[in-house]
Amino acid sequence: MLLKLAILISGRGSNMKAILNAVKKQNIPIKPTVVISNKPTAKGLKIASKLGVQTEIVESKGFQGTRWEYDQKIIHVLSKYDITSKNSLICLAGFMRILSPEFIKKFKNRILNIHPSILPAFPGLDAQRQAIESGVSHSGCTVHFVDEGVDTGPIIVQEIVKIKNDDTEETLSKRILVKEHKAYVKAVKLIAEKKIKVVGRNVKFLS
Ligand code: GRF
Repeated sequence: MLLKLAILISGRGSNMKAILNAVKKQNIPIKPTVVISNKPTAKGLKIASKLGVQTEIVESKGFQGTRWEYDQKIIHVLSKYDITSKNSLICLAGFMRILSPEFIKKFKNRILNIHPSILPAFPGLDAQRQAIESGVSHSGCTVHFVDEGVDTGPIIVQEIVKIKNDDTEETLSKRILVKEHKAYVKAVKLIAEKKIKVVGRNVKFLS
């Protein structure tokens, strides 16, 4: 069964763009179906349209309901495209919202996230700044399944970046971003081609 790909964004959308381009160029067996943003101004929306993918906005600003109520609005949009917990891969790509436990449970092992550090180091916000301030020699990025914790789910792909003496948060973020694009594509490909399975907290690679 060909999986349907939904990508959730809030801004720039460079990871989204890398995934969409790679799916096309590398013939990855997955169907990019919709890009959803919680912000109407997200730059990634225009990029997605240009690449021929449907876009939707589920605005979160000013939404008065609970987290689960907001997520149900996302589920409503997904179902409009016939995206279910059985046929989907949902990539969070700079989506600046925490998902409700109900949503995560419903889409268990169907949601991926990218984080700009080598998890479990430096979870949460400003991971690149945390890395610089801690004095570590290397950082990087991690693509992982989303579970109920913050940046804690089973790890699929990690890429390492060396930190230079004169790195700032900006210069390090830039070099990590290049690796993010590679890592996210790798993870999506592994899942689309059904080459991994999750066993407890671990991702096992099938031959
Ligand atoms: C990336 O650094 C990603 O790791 C983090 O948010 C940023 C999103 O960038 N979660 P973009 O929107 O994909 O360009």
